Amino acid sequence: MTNSTKHILKDVEFIGSFDRIEDCPTDKLPCYAFVGRSNVGKSSLINLLTDRKKLARISKQPGKTQMINFFNIDSSWYLVDLPGYGYAKESKKMRAKWNKMVRSFLLDAPNLMTSFVLVDSNVPPQEHDLSFINWLGEQDLSFSLIFTKVDRHRKDHIKKAKIEAIQQAVLESWSTLPPQFSVSSVSREGREELLAYIAQLNALVTEKQER
Ligand code: GTP
Ligand code: MG
Repeated sequence: MTNSTKHILKDVEFIGSFDRIEDCPTDKLPCYAFVGRSNVGKSSLINLLTDRKKLARISKQPGKTQMINFFNIDSSWYLVDLPGYGYAKESKKMRAKWNKMVRSFLLDAPNLMTSFVLVDSNVPPQEHDLSFINWLGEQDLSFSLIFTKVDRHRKDHIKKAKIEAIQQAVLESWSTLPPQFSVSSVSREGREELLAYIAQLNALVTEKQER
């Protein structure tokens, strides 16, 4: 595992915030969605990937991102920051809005390559995460798991055990696990692996278009 920076994203442009799929950019660039429980470290991860300190707002107060945010990366792909779920003070109305907006985006976005579901590696498996993961699986939607804030584990065996507990919880409903990444916006762990994975998928799209 290396933390040195190999992938440099030159142009990162915030395109806009949308709450309906109809308003999202319609060009054919591949999209990658980032989603997870509120406060899981999504904005921090987006800033790590793009190497921009303040691209996505980082907050100690959960529930900041309420819209579908599109970032164009090097005119070749879109990073899509989706609102977080499971915010403690979330009202029924907010939850219903989240469900409608995020689920319909994931089901219908035409160029969505895959989603990254962020899960905090420091907390035991959470019902809300599992039900969302199960829903993705039931819908046959492609996704990866991203275990966040791995720098917080002081010992490697604790990190391993915590991640295994989450994996086991997923395996209670599914026979296989999706691709997985461990990341830290503090130590930069996982950045290169994740960007390499995205680059690999982008290359498949280019290959297909050239055929
Ligand atoms: P919302 O947009 O509010 O849903 O949260 P978010 O998922 O975007 O989380 P955000 O990146 O704002 O981070 C939430 C808190 O966790 C902040 O206090 C961050 O500093 C902290 N945090 C995020 N990533 C990491 C990490 O990799 N390591 C550590 N130690 N702390 C992190
Ligand atoms: Mg955020």
